[in-house]
Amino acid sequence: MANHWEEVQKKLDSIREKQLFRETKLYQGIDFCSNDYMGLATNSRMMDFFQSKKGIYPFGSTASRLVRGNTHKMDQFESEFASFVEGEAALLVSTGFTANFGLLDSIASPDCFVFTDRLNHASILDGIRISSAQKKYYNHLDLNHLRTLLEKANLDDPGHKKKRIVVTETLFSMDGDSPDLKILLKLKNEFGFVLVLDEAHAFGIYGPSGKGLVFRDLTLSEIFSIDYRVYTLGKSLGLEGGIIVTKKIGRDHLVNVMRSFIFSTAPLPIISELASFALSLLGSMDKERDELLSLANELKKSLKQNEFSITESTSHIVPLLLETEKEALYYANHLQTIGLDVRAIRPPTVSTPRLRISLNAKLKLSDIQVLVKELIRVREKWNSL
Ligand SMILES: Cc1ncc(COP(=O)(O)O)c(C=O)c1O
Repeated sequence: MANHWEEVQKKLDSIREKQLFRETKLYQGIDFCSNDYMGLATNSRMMDFFQSKKGIYPFGSTASRLVRGNTHKMDQFESEFASFVEGEAALLVSTGFTANFGLLDSIASPDCFVFTDRLNHASILDGIRISSAQKKYYNHLDLNHLRTLLEKANLDDPGHKKKRIVVTETLFSMDGDSPDLKILLKLKNEFGFVLVLDEAHAFGIYGPSGKGLVFRDLTLSEIFSIDYRVYTLGKSLGLEGGIIVTKKIGRDHLVNVMRSFIFSTAPLPIISELASFALSLLGSMDKERDELLSLANELKKSLKQNEFSITESTSHIVPLLLETEKEALYYANHLQTIGLDVRAIRPPTVSTPRLRISLNAKLKLSDIQVLVKELIRVREKWNSL
């Protein structure tokens, strides 16, 4: 039998050789990489609110929500969140990963087709995998390709014995782009599939009061026809947690079958207190949202003018594409050394190496100018090696 630790060492050596070794570093410098898009993780009003809630007790939730871990505030936050995004009901879980993973596992099964954008988040892909459903990848954002696959499924399974599920992120965090939601809803009308949308990176920034991309791009009746919407508290809300918005019976179903909900300790009680307050702040941050989006436009314009290669980003996430893993690490290390916190993203997270520059509401135009200036400088250094 092979020695386990030798195997582990070999794997790590191979990861290192490919410049793919990862380590947990402490953060420092100006934030160009987190998902704290609205700056709520360090917002002073959030901090004051937190101080005022010091008496919250117990610290831990002590059990699963189905045992002793549920609190009045969790129930209340779910109702507030559902009504904020015009949903019937919501289910709070410990992370966005738990939400996607558990949801897909709960609604998909081996006799079911799940159509997924090729670049969907690991939590979605793993949920499909664990459900043993028949996974059908469509090319990134390519809804014509999705249509072709749906038509083929109709030919292969004319009686619609098998359930069809389509799942996509509304804003892809490693590319900064989005599917055409109008077309997606038209396809749903035509083919009658169950639709799951993950608003993790869009919530808080897009749509009125930051309610998400579906509110920017769809009518209310189209929104009502979406079966499941997944959100995370870990990004624009500056906290930690996941939330699934669906019909009341959809929530009842998940409460009864979703293993990552049933068999896991409930989120900390303080989380729903803070989340509720964060939600109330988010509604009045239109100015911050406008400024964030105009900063993103400035950055994209400036990077293009300086002949950097970026993705077709339509958002505040601006990935800068580089040739090799080594180059991406070189750029990121240089920028970090001078106080600009930019991270290299490499396979297998993405297929090609890049710097994932994500902007947040606390940044100023002068920060963007410094970043571009330093990117030009590091490119010169790299080219002269
Ligand atoms: C699209 C998407 N969905 C879900 C998640 C998981 O959310 P969480 O970080 O709350 O576990 C992520 C995390 O980055 C994500 O990018």
